[in-house]
Amino acid sequence: MIGKRRILRRALASALALALGAPLVPAAATAQETPIPKVVTADSRHALLVDGEPFLVIGAQAHNSSAWPAMLPKVWPAMDYLGVNTVELPVYWEQIEPAPGRFDFKVVDTLIQQAREHRVRLVLLWFGTWKNGSAHYRPVWMKQQPAKYPNIIGRQGQPVDSPSPHAKAALDADIRAFSAFMAHLKQVDPQRTVIMVQVQNEPGSWGSIRDFSPASEKEFAKPVPPALLRAMERPAAPGGNWRTVFGLDADEYFHAWSVARYIDQVAAAGKAIYPLPLYVNVALKDPFQKGPEPAYEFGGPTHNVIPIWKAAAPSIDLFAPDIYQPDTKRYLAVLDQYARADNALFVPETIGTPDYVRFFYAALGKGAIGFAPFGIDYSIYSADAAGQPRTREADLEQLALSYRAIGPMSRDVARWAREGKLRAAVEDETKAPGSLDLGRWIAEVRYGVAPRGEGKGNERPIGRVLVALLGPDEFMVTGNYASVHFKPKRGGSTAWEFLSVEEGQFVDGTFRSTRIWNGDETDWGLNFSSAPQVLRVRLSIR
Ligand code: DGJ
Repeated sequence: MIGKRRILRRALASALALALGAPLVPAAATAQETPIPKVVTADSRHALLVDGEPFLVIGAQAHNSSAWPAMLPKVWPAMDYLGVNTVELPVYWEQIEPAPGRFDFKVVDTLIQQAREHRVRLVLLWFGTWKNGSAHYRPVWMKQQPAKYPNIIGRQGQPVDSPSPHAKAALDADIRAFSAFMAHLKQVDPQRTVIMVQVQNEPGSWGSIRDFSPASEKEFAKPVPPALLRAMERPAAPGGNWRTVFGLDADEYFHAWSVARYIDQVAAAGKAIYPLPLYVNVALKDPFQKGPEPAYEFGGPTHNVIPIWKAAAPSIDLFAPDIYQPDTKRYLAVLDQYARADNALFVPETIGTPDYVRFFYAALGKGAIGFAPFGIDYSIYSADAAGQPRTREADLEQLALSYRAIGPMSRDVARWAREGKLRAAVEDETKAPGSLDLGRWIAEVRYGVAPRGEGKGNERPIGRVLVALLGPDEFMVTGNYASVHFKPKRGGSTAWEFLSVEEGQFVDGTFRSTRIWNGDETDWGLNFSSAPQVLRVRLSIR
């Protein structure tokens, strides 16, 4: 009886706290029970563990200024419609530290509380020193002291709208603020609603390859740190300075090292308090362009300087590409550049329109731990000329379709990714059929919806197929706007047949069948149109 009363009292207290907008208080009982999320790697494959098990981020990110309590009613309907399991939202330095050393986490608490109500996890984005290469999220009291918190000076002595990575006072301030933020998360989130934190946003600088201020020049003249020489396999050059060791690449490498060292110190301080997985997102360099080019952000973990960032920022778990590349070849090349034995692939920003949904499958085929299009909310920022939100349900329909197919089996998909069992085929601009190597079997993927599997391509490249290798002759197959045609790899006149094609869903490793496909549904290949269908396919060579 006493127990029941206490439970009732607690429930009333938390309902009251919620109603009054009171700060979250820790639920001490669950603190030891829920493991802290982490990124694990084995055999060059990765998993994000949440609640101790592989977890797939089926996510979306709201617009930059949508993580305010007044805006959240425009965010949740879009997220709920999509069926995401994780929402990415910014935390603004200017908002949480209104005066030096005085922190206010009420808004963070609101984000966490509402995420729990909507039964989703959060990835919080620390908009600290860098936001898209600038420092526009620094609190006002910092903006008012430009000498103490300086920006970069360009090669010709011109001011550059980007924070200097050589500013000690700014680094100290960021360390203090990020540490306070992580300490707060640790205190209020024993449930692990927040599963990852992005440290800064697209760090680096537009408009200058590095900082040419006197403080930076002094560093540039020093010998290259031995750790970097080792990482870049230049041990023969001890004592050499940046220019003598790296020649024409010296400016860019120095900037990458400097930005990465700054961010690592911020990340390390936060991680020492609360070791959540931390990542840095990247404004990309063209995946095929060799050497420097004018229009990209220097200093961030672009693909050419990943080894520098790995050496300089060991507290960062992964580098994550923001992929806005329009064409298929480039998009897939970026996925390959960030799906590395030493880097878990995570796409924290991309486009959510129908043409891009196929890349969710492409990323899964390369073992991604998550995928999240940007700008998903119904806020007025994204309004069209008539004042209507530009993002509407109809625009999200394709993404919702794929998220709803994968959602129920997301834990299974995360496990298959970790085991290297996923393969994907996505339509490109040529509309040519794709081919999947499935061990003893080959699957030809034809794009377009055609009752007899003779698809000649969709009007726009939206076809996509994902296959999990469950056994030598057994597969999970899902997709849209495409048909899948199996044949034994041995080829020739080998006779084969479907043992069974079941439609249903994997849930917690168990397949729940709703019907068996046969006759017209299997005689012309497996046709996927606009339904969230998942098939368990068993094949047999006769
Ligand atoms: C990439 C940034 O990381 C986002 O915060 C946002 O500014 C988008 N670009 C805008 O397209």
